[in-house]
Amino acid sequence: MATPPPGAAGSLAIEGLFPLALGRVQCRPDPLDLAAQLQQLHELRGQAEGNPEPGCAWTGDLNGVWQLHRHPTFAPLIAELTGHIGTYLEQLGFDRRRISLHLQRCWPVLSEPGQEVGRHHHPNAHLTAIYYLSGDGSGRCGSLRLWPLRQANELVPGFAVGHGGPVTPTSWTRPWLDVAPRAGLLLVFPACIDHAVLPNGDPESLRCSLSMDLVLTAAPLPAGQAPPEYLAPHPSQWQAITEDGQPLA
Ligand SMILES: [Fe+2]
Repeated sequence: MATPPPGAAGSLAIEGLFPLALGRVQCRPDPLDLAAQLQQLHELRGQAEGNPEPGCAWTGDLNGVWQLHRHPTFAPLIAELTGHIGTYLEQLGFDRRRISLHLQRCWPVLSEPGQEVGRHHHPNAHLTAIYYLSGDGSGRCGSLRLWPLRQANELVPGFAVGHGGPVTPTSWTRPWLDVAPRAGLLLVFPACIDHAVLPNGDPESLRCSLSMDLVLTAAPLPAGQAPPEYLAPHPSQWQAITEDGQPLA
């Protein structure tokens, strides 16, 4: 890997090392399709208002709605979005011919005014994507907050969020990044990254998004070829084991 160039003579320069890859694309949803999708989400939620914890948004993954990619109202949209996710992988440098991308789970998140989703990440997946069906870009309905795995530049752990500083927040020391939802916006980021949904502060609106969990494996391989060392073989080449410990035919 190349050594970063030094700053101009006599002046200190800061290099941005190890950047976190947040993929963004603003799609242009068809208004009729969007209306049909929102109506469908209302129907899927039914009479429920939130998850068991008070103030928590309703999330489909905990309520049996986790395969929107197989739902006729959403399948064409999801197919468009996975195309962008493939582009994200290519920009990171992945060789698409040697990997298989699997959509593991796709579920809706609906936040009524005042509802939120606490800080978490998705340890079951490699890649997470979020698509917004509502939002005007202001963040009033609840921004997505992303945290770095570790903010090394704050030097003193916890310093960046300490009250009274003394450190002025800059792009080098910010403790998190907030992204305002906008209808049609797709975000893609590593599934290990902690994130949360801030409370919906718009009394007039329901905040609607879709979450997607994706996994990378090796591509299916002919006999005699081996997958890359750290990549799981393709699931079609796995061996399921039955409840009594026997290989499933
Ligand atoms: Fe999440």
